[in-house]
Amino acid sequence: KQALNIVKMKKMKTEGVPLSMLTAYDYPSARLAEEAGIDLILVGDSLGNVVLGYDSTLPVTIDDMVYHTRSVTRAAQHTFILADMPFMTYHGSIDETLRGVRRLMQEGGAHAVKMEGGLEICSTVSALAAAGVPVMGHIGLTPQSVNMIGGYRIQGKDAKDAQRLMDEALALEAAGAFAILLELVTEEVAAAISKALSIPTIGIGAGRYCDGQVLVYHDLLRYTADYREKRFVKTYADIGSLIREGISQYVQEVKQRTFPEESHVFGADESVLESLYGA
Ligand code: KIV
Ligand code: NA
Repeated sequence: KQALNIVKMKKMKTEGVPLSMLTAYDYPSARLAEEAGIDLILVGDSLGNVVLGYDSTLPVTIDDMVYHTRSVTRAAQHTFILADMPFMTYHGSIDETLRGVRRLMQEGGAHAVKMEGGLEICSTVSALAAAGVPVMGHIGLTPQSVNMIGGYRIQGKDAKDAQRLMDEALALEAAGAFAILLELVTEEVAAAISKALSIPTIGIGAGRYCDGQVLVYHDLLRYTADYREKRFVKTYADIGSLIREGISQYVQEVKQRTFPEESHVFGADESVLESLYGA
């Protein structure tokens, strides 16, 4: 099976075929996502929160992203894979940005990158597109700017904010972005943006009318140590509970010496007993 590409994604939008996207951060998660038929995998910098245990995405580095992207691209060789540009790696010189992108694509094996921001990143998006790098824009709630925004709040509630988001989306499309992620945007605004653009929109907490949807792996599977209910998430499986139950049963069986059982052990020849304990 061929991986999806950005030309097919745009065609899917015009045909009204939704895009399914999921984050993944390592070999087993990416392998299972591919086997389940996901269209796009995002190696999100949400890995800072969900697999590295930070309380924001700010500490995530290019090294972290390359390390995780490599394991994902090894696992899912027939899926379009995007990697996030982490905090503080694409607002300096274009040379520095290019070095980071080079690492995610050449060392990590990603097909494209995603970056947060509106008008301020448009010249970078253009430069990357000119260099052959597909860029997904990311507007609405942009977690790397949490300290500017003052929290994780819904975007596009009033007319002024709606217009700002629309302007950002149009500018990113004009700059050459191949798609735009809308995070925590009101449904009406996400719908209007999706209609106005010819490139696909992918929503998370952005309502029913985006051209695609994305969720964080650990959210959809409730696979996390400190799971918190989020309105925009649907839990499709509760593997956190399954894992906890499985491990606690293992602990009990080790304590009770009921694991390992006879079927799990390796026996030696009788002569071994003689040599160990005498005749
Ligand atoms: O890092 C991430 O997981 C994201 C989400 C918006 C999907 O960017
Ligand atoms: Na992200």
